[in-house]
Amino acid sequence: MFQLIDGKATSTTIKDEIAEEVIQLVKNGGKVPHLAAILVGHDGASETYVASKERSCSKVGFISTVIRLEDSITETELLEKVNEINKDPDIDGLIVQLPLPKHINEQKVIEAILPEKDVDGFHPVNVGKMVIGLPGFISATPAGILELLKRYRIKTSGKSCVVIGRSNIVGKPMSILLSQKTEFGNATVTLCHSRTPNLKEVCAQADIIIAALGKAEFLTADMVKEGAVVIDVGITRVKSEKTKSGWKLLGDVKFDEVAPKCSYITPVPGGVGPMTIVSLLRNTLLASKKEIYKGIS
Ligand code: GUN
Repeated sequence: MFQLIDGKATSTTIKDEIAEEVIQLVKNGGKVPHLAAILVGHDGASETYVASKERSCSKVGFISTVIRLEDSITETELLEKVNEINKDPDIDGLIVQLPLPKHINEQKVIEAILPEKDVDGFHPVNVGKMVIGLPGFISATPAGILELLKRYRIKTSGKSCVVIGRSNIVGKPMSILLSQKTEFGNATVTLCHSRTPNLKEVCAQADIIIAALGKAEFLTADMVKEGAVVIDVGITRVKSEKTKSGWKLLGDVKFDEVAPKCSYITPVPGGVGPMTIVSLLRNTLLASKKEIYKGIS
């Protein structure tokens, strides 16, 4: 019988912990953490994510500001906005919701955010620090997955881990964090992607599989070993007549057939997604306390 890894319940517990920390922080004369999000255009998924981030901020007692900009904004104008927020001492963390319109160079925008305000952990300085094991902001989804593994006491040390997908946001950092010399690292990691020829065989020998390729219901039962731990990072929105919103979310894992083979598995929704937001809150709290970039104001 598999155990469901309940990201929603875990995220609620952590949000309560963060809310308590904020109360104590303010009581001791600290400032209320403030997260700013830039949202360009009207992409449905991005609107949903940003709204959810706003709700979570208010739940834990943070201030949040959403800066909405039209699709027609130029790269220069967006970079100016980022600079303005960089200089605003009241704002602790800044995220620019991705994807951005085609005419804007995403990497340029990411690199314009001050590393000490980059609570998404996307800036090369933070990525570099993560790679060599220095304190920095860790990208929210991998950090959320590690937190789930910790809280469910799932051992990674000495385990064989397969990460499917090599994105800068999830697959790449996840593979590095799991192989690091840390308590929730020390795994032997294989990073698979679209050019991996024998993916099924590689997955079928894994103790832990992280599916982060963004293809709905890609991972099937024949690719999973009996007793494996499966973490599903996928969120593909598909039209549905059964839901009020007209959409439903599908993971990268064919849950119904994979789950019975697993020791632990995350559902979609309610698995990794809520943990991603919690990591963002945690990073914002760290940014406001200046615990990672000490002494930088
Ligand atoms: N788009 C999809 N996921 C993310 C995320 O974690 N951060 C930002 N900024 N954009 C995203």
